[in-house]
Parts: sequence; C-alpha cells; structure tokens
Amino acid sequence: MSWLKSFLNSSIGKKFVMAITGSFLLIFLFVHLIGNITLFFGEEAFNGYVKALEVVKPIIRVIELVLLAAFVFHIYNGFRLWLENKRARPNDYKINGSSENSSIFSRTMFVSGSIIFIFLVVHLGTFFWRFNVHDPSGLANDHQYFQIVNGFFQIWWYVLLYVIAMILLGFHLNHGFQSAFQTFGLNSRKYTPLIQKLGTIYAIIMAVGFASMPIYFFLTGGVK
Ligand code: HEM
Repeated sequence: MSWLKSFLNSSIGKKFVMAITGSFLLIFLFVHLIGNITLFFGEEAFNGYVKALEVVKPIIRVIELVLLAAFVFHIYNGFRLWLENKRARPNDYKINGSSENSSIFSRTMFVSGSIIFIFLVVHLGTFFWRFNVHDPSGLANDHQYFQIVNGFFQIWWYVLLYVIAMILLGFHLNHGFQSAFQTFGLNSRKYTPLIQKLGTIYAIIMAVGFASMPIYFFLTGGVK
C-alpha cells in the first residue's frame, strides 16, 4: 500500500483527490439546490420534502457520511496544496506577474474555500443541527421546518453571510469545475472552451439559485 501513500502525497495525487471529492460535491450541490427550491412553493411543499427525506433516512445517513468524508478530504488536501504552492512560490503574484497567466478564480481558491467553510459550519449549526439533533424552539418536533428556515432568513447578518458565501461559492465552482476535468485529463484544445463555459454556467446557477432563497425570504418577510 506504500504506492497508494506516495501517490496521495504527490502533487498529482492531491489534485486527484480534490477532483474526485470535488465532483461528488458538485453533484450534491445540484441535488441540494433542486430540493431547496421547494422553499419557493410554500410551507407545505418544503415541509413535505423534508418529511419525505425522513422516510429514506438510512440511505440519507449513508450519503451524509460519504459527504462528510468528501468535505474532510477536499478541505485537508486543498490546504496541503495551498501550502505546497506557497512554499514553492512565496512571492508569487508580485514577482512572477502570474496574474497574467492565471485567473482571479484560480488565485482565490483558498480564500473562497475558507469563507465557504465558515459558511458551512454556521449553516450546519443552524439548519442541520435543528432539523436532526436539537431545536430549542420546538418547531422541528412539530415538523415546522419551513418556519425554522424563514426565521433565520429574517436576520440581516445571516442573510448577508449567505449572499457573500454564495458569491464566493460561484468563484470557487467556476474554477473547480474545469480544474476537475483537467485533472481527469479530459481537456483538449477542442473541448476546453466548452468545459469552461459549462463550468461558468453551473457556477452561476448554483450561486444565484442558493443566494435567491435568503434574499427572497428577507425581502418578502417569508411566505405565509
Ligand atoms: C440558501 C441556500 C441553502 C439552503 C436554504 C439550505 C438548506 C438546508 C437545510 C434545510 C438543511 C437540513 C436538511 C435536513 O437535514 O433535512 C441543509 C443541510 C445541508 N446543507 Fe444546505 N442549504 C443551502 C445551501 C447550502 C450550500 C451552498 C452548501 C454547501 C456549500 C450546503 C451544504 C449542506 C450540507 C452539507 C448539509 C447536511 C447534509 C444534508 O442534510 O443533506 N447547503 N441545508
């Protein structure tokens, strides 16, 4: 197994782990967005969606474990790659003028990833925790999930955090999408422009889609 260890510790190995876990997270985000769109259809639709998920709880729990592993490896390897790049090029942008041959999206992956991580901790600490573990308001026990989301989306700083995080999520996904294809060796002169366009479309849909929810609830005062 020492070959596996040395592969995982090599630069390409770390990028491979980023691409595999990142691809899984891209799929999760898409499914998560589709499910959350029920918020726009009112209380009954969203509460019904969450209750439907509870029916298949054992499957959801397995997916959540895989998701947790994907997040942990993605963040750990991202940090190691960032350190590696930093050690290799301590004064990167000033001296090498690398802003000319790399995009703002690729250069801000560490910053955007870190803010998304903070968002994720807050997000899970509110919604996931209250839905599944403990909700001091008692709304989750009554299956009033919509009211929990609505309540948080009335708090201005909570909404602001979501919107800022979703803009950075768009940045992160825009580079991450095409980067995964590159790592898998699926890029070529012919297909790279198409992959980049698809990545940008995906990133915009995710950022606008997720940000639209807190903004909508905040501006309308929540759908009654
Ligand atoms: C406005 C946008 C979003 C809303 C309204 C939302 C809503 C929710 C809700 C209600 C839950 C709890 C579901 C349950 O336990 O039954 C949840 C869980 C979760 N969310 Fe979000 N979410 C949003 C954006 C995001 C984003 C952008 C990410 C990732 C960067 C994310 C990652 C997760 C994860 C990992 C879980 C736990 C796994 C799960 O329960 O399926 N969410 N979200």
